[in-house]
This record gives sequence, structure tokens and C-alpha cells, in this order.
Amino acid sequence: MTNSRPSQMKAVVTTGDGKSTLKYNVPVPTPGSGQVLIKVIAAAQNPSEWMMLSRYPTTDIVVGYDFSGIVEDIGPEVPAGLRKIGERVAGFVAAAVTEGGSFAEYCLADAQVLIPIPEDLSYEEASGVSMAGLTACQALWQNQNLPTPLKPISQPFPILIWGGATAVGQFAIQLAKLSGLQVITTASPKNHELLRSLGADAVFDYRDPAVAAKIVEYTGNKLAHAVDCISQGDSPTLVSASMGKNGGYVALVLKADIPRADVKGEFALVMTLFGKAFEIPMQYPAIPEHYELGKKFASIMSQLLFEGKLKSTPVKLIPNGLQDAQNWIEYQQEGKVSAEKITYRISDTP
Ligand SMILES: NC(=O)c1ccc[n+]([C@@H]2O[C@H](COP(=O)([O-])OP(=O)(O)OC[C@H]3O[C@@H](n4cnc5c(N)ncnc54)[C@H](OP(=O)(O)O)[C@@H]3O)[C@@H](O)[C@H]2O)c1
Repeated sequence: MTNSRPSQMKAVVTTGDGKSTLKYNVPVPTPGSGQVLIKVIAAAQNPSEWMMLSRYPTTDIVVGYDFSGIVEDIGPEVPAGLRKIGERVAGFVAAAVTEGGSFAEYCLADAQVLIPIPEDLSYEEASGVSMAGLTACQALWQNQNLPTPLKPISQPFPILIWGGATAVGQFAIQLAKLSGLQVITTASPKNHELLRSLGADAVFDYRDPAVAAKIVEYTGNKLAHAVDCISQGDSPTLVSASMGKNGGYVALVLKADIPRADVKGEFALVMTLFGKAFEIPMQYPAIPEHYELGKKFASIMSQLLFEGKLKSTPVKLIPNGLQDAQNWIEYQQEGKVSAEKITYRISDTP
């Protein structure tokens, strides 16, 4: 440990009743095998915080997944030369539910599924890229054999990104477009311009009763690939109704049934990209091949950020840092987030 690092920190911790609170005397963690210690500069919020708080009540576990910050310490068994003290990085915490997460002054992170970030990307913008961005990578490339930005195709074919204003959707739109695909998406009308600016070729209102028919018409009844960034309510039905006459494949972000035999729906969980077993609270086995994918996806995300080709989700910077995090977790649970990333600058916390 360096001399300047405190032994205790400010952090938002679980309170055992499905909620969380800011505490000032939480132990600073020590990196274990394959981990780095991050000095968190900004933390970003996902639906995962409210989902985990309400479904897996714990006490005194630090809340939060996404972070950006500085590599502060390197644990044992991290490949030599891979990480540098002082490196600017973004990432998300795999085992936040059991080991503690990122709504804190320091957090632990996997040393390899980590996204180095360029100087011209602010920590606030960078804090929200990891969980949503890697989920988008997984939806596009884990099970669908689609082109990537490393080798874009020149003959575009259509892909539907349902719920393009979600953080996952905003990255999926950009990654699919950079791969040479024709991108069709859905959002509230107020977000159509934003999604066009990210590369969407066509944007439809998901509340329009004729939305699926319009997508079928736009794609000439040939749509064969989709990412359902909502995967609940009527979205699986509307996505499958949008697919072409020969069916196809839908990547799901939540477990859901697809009501069409010729359309295959597959759910993936971004935490499997760390290649380790985990519980959330269901038990998930380790999938070592996914660790290779996680490293590859993190590298693609980092490369695109350094090349200035990827825009982060619009930042909604919360006053007073982590002080009111529980209120903002509830705000997200109430469905009030629209095309924005709730972001906490840790040094703003009183
Ligand atoms: N599988 C995984 O590992 C994994 C990882 C990360 C996230 N997720 C899940 O992925 C989902 C998206 O997460 P996120 O953080 O990207 O979400 P988010 O940013 O919080 O999503 C907010 C957006 O959802 C859109 N939306 C709401 N209902 C919709 C509908 N019926 N059709 C289309 N769009 C709709 C809204 O669009 P408008 O504002 O345009 O109305 C809003 O902008 C969540 O359920 C999350 O739990 C899964």
C-alpha cells in the first residue's frame, strides 16, 4: 500500500432491507489474485443496482458496478506489464453483489477485462461505458456471428436494436454501424435525433401500434438479426413480429420467451465475461471461454474510444456525489431514466 492511501473510505453500502446508505468508515479493499485496486473518480448507475438491492438483500456490501478511475495498486498474478499504476481506465465490478462494488472511493476490478481510456474522454463520460458497452458487445458477437468494427462489411444487412435509447442500445447502435450494418432502432420520439446522431439509419416509435409492421416494410420482410435491449413486457413479441419471413436470431438482455418458432432468442449475462463462477443470487458456473471474449470486447471498446469513434451515453451528473445515491437508484427503478447515464463524481461527496 502507498502511504497516501487511507484504510477507510466513503462508500454506499447495503442496509439489509433492500436499500443502501452512504457510510464513511468502510474498509478500503485489497486486490486479490488477478485484480487491481482502482481509485474511483466517477461511478455510473445501471438498472443492476436496484435489481440486486431488491432481489438480494445484504448488509454492508458496497453497491455499484460501473466505474472510471486510476489504477492505484496491482494484485498478485496480474501478467507483468499489463497494468500500470496511474493508468486511466473504465470497467465494472463482476462480483459486486457478494464482494462489493464501485459506489466508493476505491474498488477492486479484474485486471484484464478493463478498458483503458484516452485523455480526452472525461472520467464522468467514461464511467458508464463498461457494463452497457460490454453487454452490447456480448449481444452482437457472443452468439451471433456478426461483423465487428475491426472488419466492417461493405454490403450492409439490417439489424434491429429494440430500445435504442437504453445505455446498452446506444452502444449497440454505434457498434453495429461501425461494423457496416444497417441499423434500425426504436425509441420515444424525443430521442430519435440522438439515435440518428449515433448512426441509426431508421428510428421508429415503440409506442406506435404499427411499429412492427413498419419495420417489416422498411426491411423488406428480411430482418434476421436483432438485439432486444428491453426483453420484457411487449418487446419480445414486437421484436419477433418485426423479423422477416424467414425468422432469425434475437439477443436478449433479460430472460424472456420469444413467441415465434422460427426466431431463436438467447439470453446472455455480461458477468460471464469475467470467466468466473458467481451468484446474483442464482448460481452461474465459470465459462472460461467467455473470459477470452471479455478481454477481446474490452480491447475493442478501448480501441474505439482512443480512435474517437464511440460516444458515451449523455451524462446526468448528480449533485453531491454519492450522498443521495439511494434516491437515484429508486429514480431508475421507477423507469425515469431516458437516454442518460446517472453519474456520480466521487469527490463531490460531502
Ligand atoms: N444481460 C446483462 O448482462 C445486462 C447487462 C446490462 C443491462 N441489462 C439489462 O438491459 C436493460 C437495459 O439496461 P440499460 O442500462 O441500457 O437501460 P436504461 O438506460 O436504464 O434504459 C432506459 C431507456 O429504456 C427505454 N425503454 C423503456 N421501455 C422501453 C420499451 N418498451 N421499448 C423500447 N425502449 C424502452 C427508454 O427509452 P425512451 O426514453 O426512448 O422512451 C429509456 O431511455 C435492463 O433491463 C438491464 O437490466 C442486462
